[in-house]
Amino acid sequence: MKPNRKTIFVCQNCGVQAKKWLGRCAECGAWNSMVEEQIRPVSPGADVVRYGLPTERGAAYLYKDVDLVDTERVPSGFSEFDRVLGGGIVPGSVVLLGGEPGIGKSTLLLQVAARVAAGVGPVLYASGEESEHQIKMRGERLEIGKSPLYLLAETCLERILEEVDRLKPSLLIVDSIQTIFSLKLQSAPGSIGQVREAATHLLFTAKGRTLPTFLVGHITKDGSLAGPKVLEHVVDSVLYFEGERHHAHRIVRAVKNRFGAVSELGVFEMTATGLQPVANPSRLFLSEHAASVPGSAVLCSIEGSRPILVEVQALVSSGAYGTARRMASGLDHNRLSLLLAVLEKRAGLSVAGEDVFVNIAGGLAINEPAADLGVVAAIASSVRNRGVRSGTVVFGEIGLGGEVRGTSQAGLRIKEAAQLGFTRCVLPAANRSPEVRSDDCELIGVGTVEEALDELID
Ligand code: TYD
Ligand code: MG
Repeated sequence: MKPNRKTIFVCQNCGVQAKKWLGRCAECGAWNSMVEEQIRPVSPGADVVRYGLPTERGAAYLYKDVDLVDTERVPSGFSEFDRVLGGGIVPGSVVLLGGEPGIGKSTLLLQVAARVAAGVGPVLYASGEESEHQIKMRGERLEIGKSPLYLLAETCLERILEEVDRLKPSLLIVDSIQTIFSLKLQSAPGSIGQVREAATHLLFTAKGRTLPTFLVGHITKDGSLAGPKVLEHVVDSVLYFEGERHHAHRIVRAVKNRFGAVSELGVFEMTATGLQPVANPSRLFLSEHAASVPGSAVLCSIEGSRPILVEVQALVSSGAYGTARRMASGLDHNRLSLLLAVLEKRAGLSVAGEDVFVNIAGGLAINEPAADLGVVAAIASSVRNRGVRSGTVVFGEIGLGGEVRGTSQAGLRIKEAAQLGFTRCVLPAANRSPEVRSDDCELIGVGTVEEALDELID
C-alpha cells in the first residue's frame, strides 16, 4: 500500500488543492498563490458540529415547533452602526468587518465593545495584532469607562474558545481572523486552511451559544477581503470600510447581510476621541460644495434605505496625448464610458477626444443608475464651462437611446433635497405623479438627456 501523502498545495486565492507546487493556479489563474499545507487526518469518530443548541440532539424540527426566541437584536450603542447591521446585532450572528489598514476597524469595534459591555454584558475582545497594553492605550482616548470589557492578546483559537467558555461573554470580537491559528493545523496563520478552520469554528461557537461575533478581516491591494472567498460565504454579514483614509469621515457599508438590507451605510467621523456618528451625511458630503461652479452637480442617491445628496465633479479638458483619458472615482468606469457615448450621440456634446475625469466628492462610492443624470450634468457643465443652475438637485437613470428613465423612491429623494434647502429638482418625467410633490422644491420632469441639460444649464 502506498503511504498517505501528508502535504498538499493549496491555492490561497480560490482554495483548490494540488499534489505539486504550481507557479500559477490551474483553477483560477492566480500567480504564486500555492502554499504548502498539512493534511489533517480525519478520524471517523470526529465531533459532529451543529448550528443548533449544544444540548439538542441532531433531529429535524417541525417548522411550527421552532421557537422564535432570542431574536431580539442587541443595540451596539451606535445607531449608525445598528443601521448598517440592519437594526442592531443579531444574537448568534457572525459579522466580518473588512477595510484597509489604519482605516479604523479596531477603533470602531473597541468602541462597540465598550458600549455593549456597559449596556448588555461582558464582552471579550481577542486581538492577535496588539497587546492588551496597546489596546488599553487606544481605549484611553476613547474614554472607555468601567465596563466589563475583557481584553485577550491571543492568536490561538483554542485559547480564545477557552476564554469564551470561562467568561460567557455577550459579544466576542476577534481582531483579526488572519492572525488566528488553530493547533489542529500546522499551516501558518493567515493561510487558507487556518482562516477557514478558525472562521468555521467561531461560526459554530456563535450559533451554538447564540454569541454574536465580529471578525476583523484584512483586505488585499485590490480591495477584496484577504483569504478565502469561502470566508465571505460562511459569515452572516460582511461590512466594509469604504472611502479613503485621507478624509476624516469613514463610511461603513454592508455588502452582504442575512439580516438586513445590503448597501446600507453608516457614516462616521474620525476624531481625537474615536469614531463619532455623523447625524446628517448629506450635509457632510455637500459641505464643500460651492454653488454654480462649472463641472459640479448635486445628485440624490439612495444608499440602502436612505437618501444621500452628494456632489459629483467633472473636468473635461483636451487630451494632450492623442488618446483620451477617462478616470472615474466613486463611480463605475464602464458606466462613465456609456454615459459619454450617450452624450456624444444623443445630446450632440463633443467629448470623444477629450480627457474626462469624474469624481464623487467625499469618497463615497455610488453604483446606483439614478446617479446617471447627475454625472451627465456635471460633464456637460464642464464642457460648456457654465455652472448648473443654483439650488438644483438631480436624479434619473439614462438609457442608451438618451431617454431618462424613472427611478425608485422619488418622493424620498425629493424630501431630502428640500430639507437641505434645494429649490429645484430635475427628475425623470415618469416619476412625476400626484403623490410625488413638494411645497418647497419645484419639480421638473424630463424625458430625454437633451431636455434635462436644457433645464440644468443655461
Ligand atoms: P485602527 O482602528 O487601528 O485601524 P485598523 O484596525 O483598521 O487598522 O485605526 C486607527 C487610526 O485612526 C489611526 O491612524 C489613528 C486614528 N485614530 C484617531 O484619529 N482617533 C482615535 O481616537 C483613534 C483611537 C484612532
Ligand atoms: Mg487594527
